[in-house]
Amino acid sequence: MSLDYLEKERSYTSLQTNHRTITSVGVIGLGYVGLPLSILAAERRFRVVGFDIDEKKIAQLMRREAGFLNAEEAVQFKRAGALSVTAEERDLEGLDAYIVCVPTPVHENRLPDLRPLEGACEIVGRHLAYGALVVIESTVSPGVCEAVALPILERVSGLSRDEFHFAHCPERINPGDEKWNVRTIPRVVGGLTEEALERTVFLYSSLIDGEIIRMKGIKEAEAVKMMENAFRDINIAFVNELAISFDRAGIDLVNVIEGASTKPFGFMPFYPGCGVGGHCIPVDPYYLIRYGRENGFEHQFLVTARRINSGMPRYAVRALERTLREKKKKLKGSTVALLGLSYKRDVPDMRESPAVVIKNLLSKAGATVNVYDPYIPGASTASDLEKALTGADAALIATDHSIFKALGPEDFEECGVDIVVDGRNCLDKDAFERKGITYRGIGR
Ligand SMILES: NC(=O)c1ccc[n+]([C@@H]2O[C@H](COP(=O)([O-])OP(=O)(O)OC[C@H]3O[C@@H](n4cnc5c(N)ncnc54)[C@H](O)[C@@H]3O)[C@@H](O)[C@H]2O)c1
Repeated sequence: MSLDYLEKERSYTSLQTNHRTITSVGVIGLGYVGLPLSILAAERRFRVVGFDIDEKKIAQLMRREAGFLNAEEAVQFKRAGALSVTAEERDLEGLDAYIVCVPTPVHENRLPDLRPLEGACEIVGRHLAYGALVVIESTVSPGVCEAVALPILERVSGLSRDEFHFAHCPERINPGDEKWNVRTIPRVVGGLTEEALERTVFLYSSLIDGEIIRMKGIKEAEAVKMMENAFRDINIAFVNELAISFDRAGIDLVNVIEGASTKPFGFMPFYPGCGVGGHCIPVDPYYLIRYGRENGFEHQFLVTARRINSGMPRYAVRALERTLREKKKKLKGSTVALLGLSYKRDVPDMRESPAVVIKNLLSKAGATVNVYDPYIPGASTASDLEKALTGADAALIATDHSIFKALGPEDFEECGVDIVVDGRNCLDKDAFERKGITYRGIGR
């Protein structure tokens, strides 16, 4: 253990006055966010109770099986003796701190679905003891922690807000990112009181190595996460719109972005593609849009960005349709190899994946779709790449998995595929064109 860590631990312990020392932590929701955090907390010598309402998942986690951990986390998970996983609520009784990591999706009508958060707060409330700390990590719009989560905790526990500590520390990890992971990513914290803020800062400084930034309040911490994801959505929408425009003009947008990136200040590259997926970027802006409306404000940028990005899977399918037509083929009746189903490179996560939308659009248009994603074999219809490509009239790359990025024109040629729509601009366009394969990118 590092000296730095011991220092932190000592200063934390000395801060304890009439309140509980934090030695036990309950993590509510063991998904992409909650499980890595639980493993880390166990490694950092907390007694950790990881709770989830999904009994099937808990049965797998009890066998230390979790397909969504990276290699290092998977090893640590096997070793994490101080981490018990459970679907039994009573195991959460009287812990020193609770960290809520449940999903915050949207309903079909795109309004925030706070039921998992409400359910998790009911569960924590039933077991919350005087002086304990509750931290909400789930992504929510400004005001939700105090207006939704806190009253449930008070009502169910019978404790007033002065009798426990309450804070928000939104998770910002980027699954699959080696550099910015649960250990390293800086965190922002907002507390209901100064004391809640300080306790949360000290808890997290015992947990993670990244910087911890104190925000003015909970609303500011909530808004940070919303702003970050809306920023990405808007910037991606901007380059997607440029891609549609430049496709007509015959300008290679990727080349333009490379050129613009040489400016040493004031430019940050974002890349066009066949859509935005995952549990955060295509979801969180709807929380902010709703929040604006509740306050009598209509967010123009956010709405437009959502519309553009949601339209990109259809744009990719249209590009394929046009290219087939040039070769006197129709989408209806064609066989299309769809490469990738997950929403991002080298992860097995299909949530809000544009690839799934593309698959449905292709099927609806009457195409036969050979789907292959090495990370999601259960949802693939082809057992390997060659089987997916052989006999296909065209291939559409929906996810830039490393295995697809490594493909050359000969891999398609050998299987008789002469049209490639690269929805992620991840292949060498010139190499394909030199080999006589018709290549279409997005804005390229
Ligand atoms: N996945 C990411 O990349 C990411 C990154 C940053 C922030 N977030 C945010 O973190 C939160 C969690 O996301 P995730 O990706 O880990 O979700 P997830 O779906 O992977 O995991 C959530 C887990 O919570 C469980 N759950 C649902 N309701 C529950 C309840 N009432 N009590 C206990 N468990 C319950 C589910 O069974 C599931 O296992 C969301 O608010 C998300 O926006 C996610």
